[in-house]
Amino acid sequence: MANKRKRKFPIGIGDTLLSEDRMRMIDPRTVLRSFGVREGVTLIDVGCGPGAFLEAASESVGENGTVIAVDIQEPFINMARRLAEEKGLRNIRFIVSKESSIPVESGSADVALIVTSLHEFEGDGTLKEVRRILRKGGKLAVVEWEKMKSPIGPPLAERLSQEEAEKMLSECNFAVEKIFQAGKYHYGIEAKKLK
Ligand SMILES: C[S@@+](CC[C@H](N)C(=O)[O-])C[C@H]1O[C@@H](n2cnc3c(N)ncnc32)[C@H](O)[C@@H]1O
Repeated sequence: MANKRKRKFPIGIGDTLLSEDRMRMIDPRTVLRSFGVREGVTLIDVGCGPGAFLEAASESVGENGTVIAVDIQEPFINMARRLAEEKGLRNIRFIVSKESSIPVESGSADVALIVTSLHEFEGDGTLKEVRRILRKGGKLAVVEWEKMKSPIGPPLAERLSQEEAEKMLSECNFAVEKIFQAGKYHYGIEAKKLK
């Protein structure tokens, strides 16, 4: 896959990802339920941004589980850490990553959550890292924007169709198991690391 430069979500408008309008459009608890995230698992949120999914993820995995919040933009990790402190979320680790390097132990995560971030990945370096970090049988949980007009969201040209997203995952040896509607403007893809 060619390493095309991609626009990263602007830090200056990071707050919009935490807005009530956005949370109504895509509810983190509903999303995590759709992917069957259970108590006690280790979930890595890749491209966590300012942390819109962290409270729900922290609650879903519970005190015996762990959330690893990862982003390539350090200011977002700082915002996410502040949000977790304010909400008293104690089962979260925070990590600044690079495009092809996520400093997390191999085979250590049960679930990788990638919410509206896949379309910003450049080439397949990040997905290869996600694959390395997931344990065998681990679950990849992707949410992306439908390639259709919506009140907010990235330009249509930057979005991935379901077919394009599915192809990216298959090319990285993930077995796509389920594709579903995740709200009016988003789709979800559940895939597995088979070996
Ligand atoms: C649209 S935001 C979504 C943030 C969060 N997942 C949410 O739904 O609120 C996309 C995020 O992905 C991050 N990102 C983009 N490419 C990345 C990569 N290769 N590795 C890790 N994070 C990345 C961006 O910095 C940004 O925070």
